[in-house]
Amino acid sequence: MELFEAIRTRHSVRAYDAKPVDRSLIEQVVEAGILAPTGMNRQTRRFTVIQNREKMDALAHAVGEAAGRGPGYNFYDPPVFILVSDQEDDPNGLANCACALENMMLAAQGLGLGAVWINQIGPVCQQPAVRALLTEMRLAPDQKVYGALSLGWPAGEGKKIEKNRDVVEWV
Ligand SMILES: Cc1cc2nc3c(=O)[nH]c(=O)nc-3n(C[C@H](O)[C@H](O)[C@H](O)COP(=O)(O)O)c2cc1C
Repeated sequence: MELFEAIRTRHSVRAYDAKPVDRSLIEQVVEAGILAPTGMNRQTRRFTVIQNREKMDALAHAVGEAAGRGPGYNFYDPPVFILVSDQEDDPNGLANCACALENMMLAAQGLGLGAVWINQIGPVCQQPAVRALLTEMRLAPDQKVYGALSLGWPAGEGKKIEKNRDVVEWV
């Protein structure tokens, strides 16, 4: 898919087919994240690819509890969930992860996959029950999860959001 076509057609996907996603496609999405720019070229952000259903559910449960979302909270049950983290004390951490996540969402769109940014982990990622699971997933203690990506084959068309274009000044 041509780049601007991917930018134009991308939208958040919150319902996924049960069909698994080939590892080669996941690798392309992660590669798009790796290729994103980082402040001062530090490249300290990390990607944690979760496909194991039990681990994903356990993380969602812990995040739901810690964030006060209740036991039914989940990440829309995607076949793939990717944590994007960076050093907690890096002032560019969020921006670095945002650049990576947008690259990944566009790559997903280009591959016919669907994705959505999940934001609930960051504020609770140092809470013990959440951190214990992140540590099991080999996330270093100083890494903060600034965002995450639910990823899979879209189930249905999804909802295309109209964008407000009255946001530009030409001076
Ligand atoms: C920083 C950020 C955080 C977001 N967090 C969530 C989230 O936690 N859960 C969710 O369902 N969507 C989340 N989204 C997706 C937005 O709701 C979505 O991008 C917005 O409604 C516009 O829709 P679109 O992506 O289809 O253009 C997030 C998006 C961004 C950029």
